[in-house]
Amino acid sequence: MIPNSNIKISAIRGSFLDFIADPFFYPELETVRYIDDGLMIVSAGIIQELDTYDRLKPKYPEISVTSYPGMLILPGFVDIHVHYPQTEIIGSYGKQLLEWLNKYTFPTEGKLKDKSYAKKIASFFLEQLLENGTTTALVLTTVYPQSVDALFEEAKKRNMRIIAGKMLMDRNAPDYLLDTPETSYEDSKKLIQKWHGQGRLLYAITPRFAITSTSEQLHLAGVLKQEFPDVYLHTHLSEQQQEVELVAQLFPNSKDYLDVYDKFGLVTNKSIFAHSIYLSDYEFKRLSEADSNIAFCPTSNLFLGSGLFQIHRAKSEQNQVQVGLGTDVGGGTSFSMFKTDNEAYKIAQLQGQNLSSLKAFYLATLGGAKSLNLDDKIGNFNAGKEADLVVLNPRVTPLLKLRNERNKSHSVINIVDELFALTILGDERAVKATYVAGNLTLLAH
Ligand code: GUN
Ligand code: ZN
Repeated sequence: MIPNSNIKISAIRGSFLDFIADPFFYPELETVRYIDDGLMIVSAGIIQELDTYDRLKPKYPEISVTSYPGMLILPGFVDIHVHYPQTEIIGSYGKQLLEWLNKYTFPTEGKLKDKSYAKKIASFFLEQLLENGTTTALVLTTVYPQSVDALFEEAKKRNMRIIAGKMLMDRNAPDYLLDTPETSYEDSKKLIQKWHGQGRLLYAITPRFAITSTSEQLHLAGVLKQEFPDVYLHTHLSEQQQEVELVAQLFPNSKDYLDVYDKFGLVTNKSIFAHSIYLSDYEFKRLSEADSNIAFCPTSNLFLGSGLFQIHRAKSEQNQVQVGLGTDVGGGTSFSMFKTDNEAYKIAQLQGQNLSSLKAFYLATLGGAKSLNLDDKIGNFNAGKEADLVVLNPRVTPLLKLRNERNKSHSVINIVDELFALTILGDERAVKATYVAGNLTLLAH
């Protein structure tokens, strides 16, 4: 359809790669769509059409085309678990989870009580996402409602798809970071009414984890989820053994860690559980039944010494659970989805499994979108989806040039090999441009 002439319409030419199905369950090469010389037509931020340049260009004889020769264009990356207030403590030395929270995280989150400071960090954080080609993220904030406002205000300016919510914490943290069951309910409700569905922004009810919430607080989180079934539920689950043991002591009547959340109606198809490393078969089964979602956070799991996430158990035929990738900055060590995929690959290797390049990029795009129930809007290049794209240079550094220049042919097999090299050797320098709803953010590298 050719849109009305006063709507902005643009065209992008390059090599496009996206997914139309899950490579964990279908023959990989049937799940990927690759157009070597493609043309994408975007109107009012929405993908109108994507086809070969030769077929599509004659339909739009007047259109001016932005071309990216030699580049690879993918759907914008989706980071389904990241803490914006922790941006400044990335790479803090030497502690495992509970000590790391006390020593570095809590004092830093306290600084975001000051809204102007929160705005500064939120702005820096969102620019980091764009630098790394990430256009959608599910983000943790702090206990202070103003830190949520700060993030949403900055995300709105950039028209990014950001899901976030106020952190709920009413015990086992310093006093300055505590709310109460009632204030957490009231504050979250106000924020939902203010932000959920405003442009591209969405809300997630966010109890930090079972250790920092009482039963009363989790109960009210469940009440809120029932009152607003369309919002998300976002939390941590089974990240470290010491944490799992403490949860068992704090909730002696729960069968297992997941059951703590389940008892309060928090295990739903719009729930995202970060980490999920030490899960029983029963917990996987329950997540599968509830159509819940896991955020696999490889750089964080290695950095904090948490353990090896068993993606093959989540991606099993019997107990399928949707999985996306989280950078989990600042427990995670990079905003880059290449580096995240890189560590995910090694975590699979250490368990005698292989995470192919296509699987890894599926997780970073359509897999993430499905985990957020947003695959009707983002995640691949189907017509009608929002035009969030990342333009990659597979030969950006001398080493990548040497590695990827071997590939003279443009067959899908070779492109997949280039992508694998990017996973292992790449970082944000390989991101040449990021498009958010059709608008170009040109990057310096
Ligand atoms: N569990 C509870 N809070 C956190 C956090 O801030 N980071 C990580 N990695 N795990 C958590
Ligand atoms: Zn986290």
